Amino acid sequence: MANYELLKDIEKYGRENKIPILLDDSLEYITGLLEKIKPHRVLEIGTAIGFSAINFSKYLDEGGRIDTIEIESLRVQQAIENIEKVGVQDKIRVLEGDALDILPYLTEKYDVIFIDASKGKYLEFFEHALRLSPVGGWIIADNVLYKGMVLSDYNKHKQRTAVNKLRSFIDVVMETECLNSELVDIGDGLTISKKIKEWEK
Ligand SMILES: C[S@@+](CC[C@H](N)C(=O)[O-])C[C@H]1O[C@@H](n2cnc3c(N)ncnc32)[C@H](O)[C@@H]1O
Repeated sequence: MANYELLKDIEKYGRENKIPILLDDSLEYITGLLEKIKPHRVLEIGTAIGFSAINFSKYLDEGGRIDTIEIESLRVQQAIENIEKVGVQDKIRVLEGDALDILPYLTEKYDVIFIDASKGKYLEFFEHALRLSPVGGWIIADNVLYKGMVLSDYNKHKQRTAVNKLRSFIDVVMETECLNSELVDIGDGLTISKKIKEWEK
């Protein structure tokens, strides 16, 4: 029996230690969607300490699984510990490494793909997400408005490269014909896309 009560401690640890786990309103929005979809397979890019993956695991259908990728070994260890403490190790598999090295080896389709890692690489993650998403599948990306900087005219801060890349990312997502996409201004900004037809590269 999973002990989801422990998520409160995991969240407290994450917030206190400035680990960039999902903000409450984004979590609520995404889990609301997952509750409707009841996904069988979920892919997450950016595990951190497992907070979002453990939350998402509540909404899997029978026998469902989440694959989640994390580059930092300490976070991988913490995520695995948290997943085991909550008791959802049969539902979540943590893959350690740079997602850009791991994604090319993934071949199965995922009903939901959640992009929540290095902002400068969203476009590269997105290409893989398009390939790994079935028609009817969902691709969600977090932090696309990056603390409001993406929609602001001011562009002289040190995050401007990431901000410009996120702008291009949003443009590409919105213009990708095989997707029905929307930009949702909650939390740090989400793009939510449903794949409506086969992707032609
Ligand atoms: C925003 S946090 C993820 C938060 C997590 N999804 C949650 O809400 O609980 C982003 C994580 O992505 C990891 N990351 C960054 N670049 C990555 C990459 N190229 N491949 C895999 N993980 C990466 C970071 O180490 C960090 O732990």
